[in-house]
Amino acid sequence: MTNVLSQTYTYDAIILGAGGAGLMCAAIAGQRGKRVLVIDHADKPGKKILISGGGRCNFTNVDARAECYLSANRHFSKSALGRYTAQDFIEMVDRHKIAWHEKELGQLFCDDSARQIVKMLLDDCGRGDVTLQLGQSISDVTHSDARYTVTLDNMAATAPALVIATGGPSIPKMGATDFAFQLARQFGLKVVEPRPALVPLTLGEDELLFRNLSGVSADTITRHGKTRFRAGSLFTHKGLSGPAILQISSYWRNGDQISINFLPDYPADWLVDAKKNAPRSGLKSALTTAFPDRLATALAEKLALDGEMANIPDKKLRAAQARLSDWQFTPTGSEGYAKAEVTIGGINTNGLSSQTMEAKHIPGLYAIGEAVDVTGWLGGYNFQWAWSSGWAAGMAL
Ligand code: FDA
Repeated sequence: MTNVLSQTYTYDAIILGAGGAGLMCAAIAGQRGKRVLVIDHADKPGKKILISGGGRCNFTNVDARAECYLSANRHFSKSALGRYTAQDFIEMVDRHKIAWHEKELGQLFCDDSARQIVKMLLDDCGRGDVTLQLGQSISDVTHSDARYTVTLDNMAATAPALVIATGGPSIPKMGATDFAFQLARQFGLKVVEPRPALVPLTLGEDELLFRNLSGVSADTITRHGKTRFRAGSLFTHKGLSGPAILQISSYWRNGDQISINFLPDYPADWLVDAKKNAPRSGLKSALTTAFPDRLATALAEKLALDGEMANIPDKKLRAAQARLSDWQFTPTGSEGYAKAEVTIGGINTNGLSSQTMEAKHIPGLYAIGEAVDVTGWLGGYNFQWAWSSGWAAGMAL
């Protein structure tokens, strides 16, 4: 890779953002013979890749398909996901001899380190002679005479194609910004109202009992309307987190109700049967067979059925079990962009070609990755979108 110090340079394409999407796009376009410049304000590329998946990067999901993504246009992601699939990325990973494993639910992780994914992308950028400019603040982006000009501190660069790959504002302390949305609006593209997603939810005073369970987790099904996720929920000092909550948070909007099924695998008459088996014990003892002690205590307290099970009518036990299977609550909010793994919403897909990611009415302008209004579930789906959309643009540049 070349390093540039000052002056104005001419390229075939300028990519803003050296995250997963930008690096994939650069590697593909570069290896197709395009002269590519990638610009990022961070001091190193792929920072979110490095911290992802607990340092092992959940780099794809073998089930990635359009239904696993939220977007104002649920069909938009089909083309890119179909043309550059999880299998294609696995082949790339294999080509680079990176060992990986499936953890659960189709989620693939590096055996060793997320650093290998960044190195792989940089190696392929190197093969394509891509120029990388890191630690650069972008002071201006203009478009005239069919060329885009990007002005940095010490240099300017110009090209007939510009790719917006600066992601969304989730985790600002890592350098995430809403620059993509500002730039999109500057060029007349619409932006679907962004909001934090895959984010812990907060509980109010009325659910204080749960807030005292910080650190306790349970196998659950979370539900918002007809959408359900089976995974762990974790109580935190502010409310709820864990994979099942993060998943459902992407569907939740302020004021909406969410429900938790704490008994996904229990038969309908489980508590009535428990009473038959141990009539002298209390409800809390029965709950202890299903939940960690602290959670059993809190739930028993909430259900407020005192005394021996023998003295609690079956009807009340069935009602208690129904509540445990559909515990409804209204979060007071979320922990916001500071804790959100992704940003939902973003550059409106109506303005983009689903084949190439190019803006329909602004030739040469592309948008890829998280900046676009396509947001995946937890579990490798978001990186797959970064690879697929980056590949689609990289092939079209
Ligand atoms: P990304 O945000 O990666 O890259 C954007 C780049 O643009 C950054 O390098 C940034 O510095 C740069 N930039 C931003 N503003 C700029 C500006 N104004 N000027 C210049 N440069 C600018 N997904 C998944 O599939 N599996 C996983 O395991 C995880 N794990 C995970 C953990 C954590 C903690 C987070 C926060 C997120 C995840 N994700 C994930 C989500 C995943 O990281 C995310 O969807 C992709 O990184 C998006 O890739 P992009 O390239 O689109 O944006």
